[in-house]
Amino acid sequence: MSKGTFYITTPIYYPSDKLHIGHAYCTVATDNIARYKRMCGYDVLFLTGADEHGQKIEEKAKAKGVTPQQFVDEIVTGKGGILDLWKLMNISNDRFIRTTDDYHVESIQKIFKQMYDKGDIYKGSYRGKYCTPCESFWTETQLVDGKCPDCGREVHDAEEEAYFFRLSKYQDRIEELLQTPGFLEPESRVNEMLNNFVRPGLEDLCVSRTSFTWGIPVTFDPKHVVYVWVDALSNYITALGYGNEKYDDFDKFWPADVHIVGKEIVRFHSIIWPAMLMSLELPLPKKIYGHGWLLIDGGKMSKSKGNVVDPVVLVDRYGADSLRFFLMREFPFGSDGAFTNEALITRINSDLANDFGNLVSRTVAMVEKYFDGTLPADRQADPMDDELVNMAKGLRDAYEKDMEAFQTQQALTDIFKVISRANKYIDETAPWVLAKDPANNARLATVMYNLLETIRICVTLLQPTMPETCEKAFAQIGASEADRSWDNAARFGVLSETVTVKKGETLFPRIDMEKELKALDELNPKAAETPAEEEAAGPITIDDFAKVTMTVCKVLSCENVKKSDKLLKFKLDDGSGTERTILSGIAKYYKPEELVGKTIVACTNLAPRKMMGEMSQGMILSAEKDGKLNLVMLADEVPAGATLC
Ligand code: MSP
Repeated sequence: MSKGTFYITTPIYYPSDKLHIGHAYCTVATDNIARYKRMCGYDVLFLTGADEHGQKIEEKAKAKGVTPQQFVDEIVTGKGGILDLWKLMNISNDRFIRTTDDYHVESIQKIFKQMYDKGDIYKGSYRGKYCTPCESFWTETQLVDGKCPDCGREVHDAEEEAYFFRLSKYQDRIEELLQTPGFLEPESRVNEMLNNFVRPGLEDLCVSRTSFTWGIPVTFDPKHVVYVWVDALSNYITALGYGNEKYDDFDKFWPADVHIVGKEIVRFHSIIWPAMLMSLELPLPKKIYGHGWLLIDGGKMSKSKGNVVDPVVLVDRYGADSLRFFLMREFPFGSDGAFTNEALITRINSDLANDFGNLVSRTVAMVEKYFDGTLPADRQADPMDDELVNMAKGLRDAYEKDMEAFQTQQALTDIFKVISRANKYIDETAPWVLAKDPANNARLATVMYNLLETIRICVTLLQPTMPETCEKAFAQIGASEADRSWDNAARFGVLSETVTVKKGETLFPRIDMEKELKALDELNPKAAETPAEEEAAGPITIDDFAKVTMTVCKVLSCENVKKSDKLLKFKLDDGSGTERTILSGIAKYYKPEELVGKTIVACTNLAPRKMMGEMSQGMILSAEKDGKLNLVMLADEVPAGATLC
């Protein structure tokens, strides 16, 4: 019988680029919680999807020469797209919404009109700094030296007609809501929202645009499209059938039990979304959980920095379960965490291969060796069994407490404490010594049974994290379907007394760290220089600029780097008298022989970096637009060693 409903969501992802490990982190965590709730007996609806409108998509499509719809279709449903990635990672979402789906569009138009009819959306004018060539409005703080941050040209004061949402009207209710215990978690995010956004006074929000067209038109004023966040946030109710006929489980699942979101979009979910729902007179979600970011080299992962980690590469090498486990085991869910390949391999080797995999394979191998695979019914308990048995019996409750608080890392830590205890129990009981004398058979069978039962409980609770491996482990220890249930995870003595085990494949082969790190370095796009294209930093001072040394260099030689279709290796005369080696990810654009003798510019005070096993001492400057790249070249008379200033 169902314990009730549980509605859980991830943010819907922007299909502007391929998704990276940070996106996978958010989805895997949500999947883990959804699977856990199903295992407990809830009727779960897990929703994810794609947020497909907006200016950025429109521009990217234009640059690629395709329609915005074709552009998003490719990234969402194309080969290797978002749907494929979630399948590869075993994501068990029940629904997938695309904001370009007809039913969603229909609902958004109704929602917008409903808020307008209520007087919560009104027509006003948007004032800001306008860049005519870029057709973009900017705020004072976004300008760089008073100019357009995108193209560097002059901007002017301009006003544009726009619709506004009366966010200010909901100030008091939002302030109260944020202080409701359990609404926004982790708790640290509450003060952040109150102090930074709510207490300074909520301003009405501009909720329509006329400067681009790739969005949902406002029915009663179609030159306006609905602001992407109104469009996107509403997915959580349109996917249940609010305002459309496609689904009809709004009453069953709304309000959501939890929206899982990354920390940078907590503001939209804990302030704007509830205010919209207040305007629509709908119940509010029970909880918003703002998780931390996966960082790389201390910073945020982004395509512009060229440091994104591709989850497909990691799943191909280690399997979805290992990656899912690592993401959940390594990082506390509410905080930021540093992603490194070393940490991933260490986790796989220590927790999965050494501790868990080894426990299963040793236990099964011993039952096969000492009892031909089937335990006899005789038993002989010993007080030395108590600690392990009690830990295993108490595990489900501890795990449940952690999972209810979304402390996925702690939940796994608890399981692994029991796994370690079981490995220690093998050393303490020394089954190989017991096996020497048939008089010890009952004792030996008891030791084996205790181990199998401990494994069964641990594997049951590992299912939400590693669904595929757990199936294999259950088969090896001879657990029947019924033995695997949530209820049975709180009991000891569930496996048949005369259980038969079956040796299977090694669950987690050990990984050679050094070899793998090298291979990953070669495979990961992080190793290639990727031209910056987004997220321009704010204005910098002349001192910041002076930190960068750009030196004129002559190309002495240039060749392709073996096993890389991206990199060229340059030997350069930088005027210092010592040859400089730089690797650059431009093999797609130039043949090496074309570049010999050319006068180019390199940033020569970047920290050296190893790429494909070679040290690169700097970065060659190039100019990129619309996917085309040109090296910055100077006239031949400019001498090597001259610096740009
Ligand atoms: N489309 C909006 C969400 C609309 S929800 C109504 C959006 N999309 S996104 O693709 O940019 O991000 C989706 C989620 O991925 C966010 O929760 C974001 O925090 C998460 N992550 C993106 N990079 C991340 C990391 N490096 N680490 C962890 N999560 C990260 O925002």
